[in-house]
Amino acid sequence: MDEEWYLDNRRLRSFIDTVDEAADEHEEIPALIESLHDPFRELLTDDEWLTEPYDGLVPEGYDDRGEMGGDIAQWLLYRRPEKLTIFSLVLPPGVSTPVHDHLAWGLVGIYSGTQTEEFYRRADDEGAHIGHAELEHIGTEEMERGDFYELVPPNNDIHQVQTSSDVPSVSIHLLGGDVGCIQRHQFDPEADFVEMFQSHYTNVRCERALSPPEEHGPPH
Ligand SMILES: [Fe+2]
Repeated sequence: MDEEWYLDNRRLRSFIDTVDEAADEHEEIPALIESLHDPFRELLTDDEWLTEPYDGLVPEGYDDRGEMGGDIAQWLLYRRPEKLTIFSLVLPPGVSTPVHDHLAWGLVGIYSGTQTEEFYRRADDEGAHIGHAELEHIGTEEMERGDFYELVPPNNDIHQVQTSSDVPSVSIHLLGGDVGCIQRHQFDPEADFVEMFQSHYTNVRCERALSPPEEHGPPH
């Protein structure tokens, strides 16, 4: 199996083993995700595994290969091409991501700092990839360390993240696809506008633009 470890330590390896064991036991994605709640929360509240630079903003002079904008760092930690990724997202105080989707199943939770999440859903037929798109705002969540939520497209798939703490916020994303390399969407809800977007990663430039997975399949 092709695997890429950008952060390689025993703790992250044991978490990936847990994901694989859960995938052996649960064929359906919702059951798989639910079985990962406790292990994911334990990872979020463990201080020992997320080391520099992956727990911080882009260092001075670093060749940032990402496209999230706004001094946002998105560090790829682990990748199994097209099947599974883990990355950290680090946002400076007060900074927001664009409103965006993921087009893959996942778990997203807070490792440090606090975040405000604004959730949306498409209120039109979702056919438009560029141009007009209507979004409905469906909720706001204040999140702190150990809090997490599920992404099961189309549920919870469109959001905007803003750091609400006076230190950078760090969230951990476990996703059933190579989300930094997928051609996905970013939105301007005020202008009813959508466009395609490929975020890449701060430490890894995508060689090509991937299509979203047709089925939200298992991680191996
Ligand atoms: Fe996101």
